[in-house]
Amino acid sequence: MITKLQNRHDLSDEEFLELLQTDSYDDVLHKAADEVRRSVYGDEVFLRGLIEFTNYCKNNCNYCGIRCGNTNVERYRLSKEEILSCCETGFKLGFRTFVLQGGEDPYFTDERICDLVKSIKDAYPGVAVTLSIGEKEKESYRKFKEAGADRYLLRHETATEEHYAALHPAELSLAHRKQCLFDLKELGFQVGAGFMVGSPGQTNEHLIADLRFLQKLQPDMIGIGPFIPHEDTIYRNEKAGDLAMTLRLLSILRLMFPYVLLPATTALATIDPKGREKGLKCGANVVMPNLSPVEFRKQYSLYDNKACTGEEAAECAACLEARVKAAGYRIVSSRGDVRR
Ligand code: 5AD
Ligand code: FES
Repeated sequence: MITKLQNRHDLSDEEFLELLQTDSYDDVLHKAADEVRRSVYGDEVFLRGLIEFTNYCKNNCNYCGIRCGNTNVERYRLSKEEILSCCETGFKLGFRTFVLQGGEDPYFTDERICDLVKSIKDAYPGVAVTLSIGEKEKESYRKFKEAGADRYLLRHETATEEHYAALHPAELSLAHRKQCLFDLKELGFQVGAGFMVGSPGQTNEHLIADLRFLQKLQPDMIGIGPFIPHEDTIYRNEKAGDLAMTLRLLSILRLMFPYVLLPATTALATIDPKGREKGLKCGANVVMPNLSPVEFRKQYSLYDNKACTGEEAAECAACLEARVKAAGYRIVSSRGDVRR
């Protein structure tokens, strides 16, 4: 099955199920994924500077710590000056991609987002700007693109209707989420989708549906990380997603989508002290350290015990550099575009 995947042949649902439900293939799977990753991207690891610029959100997703219903969160918004100063720090550290990530915050109108994108692109020519600000109308996405945004991250979270409905409030629909992703693609963004591993109620069948959806979408980036419970949500007593399952899925995704940009996420680093390194060895090729001002980090708490909330950007960059090197890879200072 792994050779089949490696040769770009599709697997049947039964075959995927077999891969997912046991650890017996893991060693071979991880090794094959690393080979494929090296054939496309060598030992290069791309950096994305994550700027969590607002933790206000109008949505109330059941799993998320900054959902609007959580009154225990101290809310913040970064000013344009603060955002540009994050970029300045990041640029000096060699970052050539900035990711503006936030809750769905009505204060940040299309005009304000476009102004931010333009200001970053003017101040730092040659950098890529990624937006991760949720579901919008196609017209808004068009404006963001015209303002110079290059990429957009919007995890689909789960491709199964009933599971989507269990994880989200009734106002949100999987159909609209998917529509957004296809709109973004059509507008020429490099698009990222993805899902949590081990979210409450998730089955292997749901995961297979996620893989099938990704085959349809053909995204440039795929963000996956373990679900981690947050104390102020109804899932506070649920189990966190599993390390082995997350690594297995990273490897499967690398084999299915050899070119894809695949981050070793902070959630993975949170459930295991060597999570990021393990992710890289299983096919991941992107790391996304946080550039947000340290005083706000803890307030952007999607889940409990998030890693790297106390480190200054420079410390985090140095730490990552060492970790990536020890894992056998090399951080490069480039935009890190997809190599299709
Ligand atoms: N655990 C893990 N990941 C989470 N996210 C949101 N809440 C959690 C959680 N409790 C992920 C979602 C979202 C991304 C920004 O963070 O997949 O798309
Ligand atoms: Fe952030 Fe080590 S990766 S401090």
